[in-house]
Amino acid sequence: MTTATRKILVTNALPYANGPIHIGHMLGYIQADIWVRFQKMRGHECHYMCADDAHGTPIMLKAQQLGIEPEQMINDMNQAHQADFADFHVNFDHYYSTHSPENKELAELIYKRLRAAGHIKTKTISQLFDPQKEMFLPDRFVKGDCPKCGATEQYGDNCDVCGATYAPTDLKNPVSAVSGATPELRDSEHYFFDLPAFEKMLKAWTRSGSLQEEMANKLNEWFESGLQRWDISRDAPYFGFEIPDAPGKYFYVWLDAPIGYMSSFKHYCETTGNADFDSYWQKDTDTELYHFIGKDIIYFHSLFWPAMLSGAEFRQPTNVWAHGFITVNGTKMSKSKGTFIMARTYLEHLDPDYLRYYFAAKLTSRIDDLDLNLTDFAQRVNSDLVGKVVNIASRCAGFIQKKFDGKLATELNETELLTEFQNAASSIAQAYENREFSRAMREIMGLADKANFYIAEQEPWQLIKDPANASRVHEICSIGINLFRLLMIYLTPVVPELAQRVQAFLKEQFTWQSHEHILTGHEIEPFKALLQRIDMKQVEQMIDASKEANAAAQAPAAAATENDELQNDPIAEEINFDEFAKVDLRVALIANAEHVEGADKLLKLTLDLGGETRQVFAGIKSAYDPATLIGQHTVMVANLAPRKMRFGLSEGMVLAAGPGGEDLYIMNPHEGAKPGMRVK
Ligand code: MSP
Ligand code: ZN
Repeated sequence: MTTATRKILVTNALPYANGPIHIGHMLGYIQADIWVRFQKMRGHECHYMCADDAHGTPIMLKAQQLGIEPEQMINDMNQAHQADFADFHVNFDHYYSTHSPENKELAELIYKRLRAAGHIKTKTISQLFDPQKEMFLPDRFVKGDCPKCGATEQYGDNCDVCGATYAPTDLKNPVSAVSGATPELRDSEHYFFDLPAFEKMLKAWTRSGSLQEEMANKLNEWFESGLQRWDISRDAPYFGFEIPDAPGKYFYVWLDAPIGYMSSFKHYCETTGNADFDSYWQKDTDTELYHFIGKDIIYFHSLFWPAMLSGAEFRQPTNVWAHGFITVNGTKMSKSKGTFIMARTYLEHLDPDYLRYYFAAKLTSRIDDLDLNLTDFAQRVNSDLVGKVVNIASRCAGFIQKKFDGKLATELNETELLTEFQNAASSIAQAYENREFSRAMREIMGLADKANFYIAEQEPWQLIKDPANASRVHEICSIGINLFRLLMIYLTPVVPELAQRVQAFLKEQFTWQSHEHILTGHEIEPFKALLQRIDMKQVEQMIDASKEANAAAQAPAAAATENDELQNDPIAEEINFDEFAKVDLRVALIANAEHVEGADKLLKLTLDLGGETRQVFAGIKSAYDPATLIGQHTVMVANLAPRKMRFGLSEGMVLAAGPGGEDLYIMNPHEGAKPGMRVK
């Protein structure tokens, strides 16, 4: 590895300004923070930028709902986000907002350069318009019946039930989710970015060999299905920046969001003088630029963003690194299970270094999802950080303090282990550099085992009983403290607060190069407990608090939607009894429930009607863990015509209420109802 000082700019995806940070978000911010801290410790120039992503329809509507100006909402949220990150020791060099003068200026500059180069096209398109709210409706704000399978209450972009994707204009019986009004079709001129013009350049970047394998594969799939022009304009009312020379037209939030990386850096350069903006963003720069992102936003960062930069004569990212999603206890974070844990709730119960270590211990350079299993989390932190690493110091420090005036031995003759620990620096550094954090943690813990083994074998607590052994005990304990010190140098990027306490204890400031020397004749502070073990009770309290926070957050909203329910979805036209009687509803036993390979939304249910079984695909995966459904009774439509779906035949339908996502509730008959009984 080169020893010359590198100049590196690092970003992590900008969080939306309409909600608090949760522990799922934290994965990316912590991953990038560890990498940045490592680079800084090595003496490189490295700047870590972030900002709130403050524009778009959801943010505009949320502020309206709260009855405040969007500016006030995004300012409040920005403060809250910054506090959460700071308390997790995510050390941004600058945290800004995309609703800033610098971002407006850069978005306009980039747009104008793209326009001048002929990369902006216009086209009139028809879109659903809410006549009551007087606004065009984004896909997610239109609901209706699926054009393929007829399922009701589906969003404007895809069907939860059959998995079909379509345009919102294809929905049957569309309703505006904002006002409940029936949307109408209206024409409007839109501005498009000519992405297909960049195909060659994007293909070259895909084939450069530096991209993550999974990302390159995704890009190839997108090339195969053909690149499309990208709609970058939205009509007023919209919370964002107005497009130059296009009154009433605004940049779509995803246009100015990544420019937020640049503008945060620009503000930082101009206010601190710590770096030169142009030298980082001009073409042919020798600086490095890395974007850490979640796997859900690869499209924006690996296609639009490099193409926009290229078309506007700026540099390309050196790389875009995607990570997977966090699951908790094996499933998607769930509000009702209390595993939808806000960053703040975590901080009120547990030390951030614990989570940072756990993430590091599981992170690789790949895009795999990462499961936060809470029992494993507590065990891993307790056994590795407390039981292995801190334990080394606590076994040695007492003797140094009591018997040797708090000073380490001036000469250490037994250097074999010390040298081995020092030599490990290069492969640990390589692992950090390659974002193979789990490998780095494994190496460090392997060394910790060796250190503990050494102390156990030497038994200083036995030797000390004979005063003649004093200097030998001094040496053993001084070696122990040095081994501990080396491990903590290597762990500093991951557990910065623990590392701070260790540096105070050792009266020393760590850099990566500190591993090159050994402490001898050095005075240390009396040993104080450096890290508490996690008590599972704390974890349980955090889960309970998450459940309560969600219940509290949802109570007023639930009351509000109770009224909205009828408004959004008015009671259907009257029918007579004969019409109702045509629907044959039956009690069914859920004999089996399982995930469907390749289906995001569906569970496959085997329903026992007491003599006959039916296979039904139900769009309830977001709300139910299949294992919990097996053995329950529910109600199904038994005489619905079978429907061929991508995954097989669906022979009926189970009934569920709720808007979707986790808020879905299947019917449960009272105790005593038997499979096959008719509901009438
Ligand atoms: N505002 C956009 C990003 C714009 S970047 C120019 C956005 N915001 S977000 O708030 O939805 O997500 C912020 C980051 O958190 C993204 O990288 C996203 O992938 C990540 N995560 C959100 N939920 C996550 C998990 N459950 N697990 C891991 N990362 C997750 O997207
Ligand atoms: Zn459908």
